[in-house]
Amino acid sequence: MRKDVRILLVGEPKVGKTSLIMSLVSEEFPKVVPYRAEEITIPADVTPEKVPTHIVDYSGTLRPFRLGLKCIELFRCHVLLNKMLCMWFRVPLILVGNKSDLVEHSSMETILPIMNRYSEIETCVECSAKNLKNISELFYYAQKAVLHPTGPLYCPERRD
Ligand code: GTP
Ligand code: MG
Repeated sequence: MRKDVRILLVGEPKVGKTSLIMSLVSEEFPKVVPYRAEEITIPADVTPEKVPTHIVDYSGTLRPFRLGLKCIELFRCHVLLNKMLCMWFRVPLILVGNKSDLVEHSSMETILPIMNRYSEIETCVECSAKNLKNISELFYYAQKAVLHPTGPLYCPERRD
């Protein structure tokens, strides 16, 4: 039985990582967002799985990494980093499509090929920090992915 869950938000600049955390905490879209949210801990009794959950805005940690890197290169770094983590710890990944309020149709067509390519992606979710669509669900899916992974125990990178 795990004693806690740690959720890191990783992504390209301005995709809304900090806004997602703030929308979850205050249940409203923040007009002004700091560059990085403080780490928050959700107590066990208010989480669906009854496990204390830490939420970390990872962007700031990676920022020095960005010097001279274009978005696509940064994304590749994230993928590489995640692959390394997957090999060592089998970290589950949730693919998030934020700002769904700005698009008229679903971005699933873009998301599904990415999901099929990376076995460590447990699930994907479209959400909006602005109209609070799927915000609590997103963090619940992340918690669930750690506690009850549905992916294969076999990790292709490790071949075991
Ligand atoms: P960095 O930390 O600078 O990488 O950015 P971030 O990923 O933390 O994004 P941030 O939360 O600062 O949001 C960037 C901009 O997108 C802000 O102007 C937000 O108001 C806006 N934004 C965030 N989420 C949404 C959303 O769901 N819908 C819309 N329309 N705008 C959003
Ligand atoms: Mg931020």
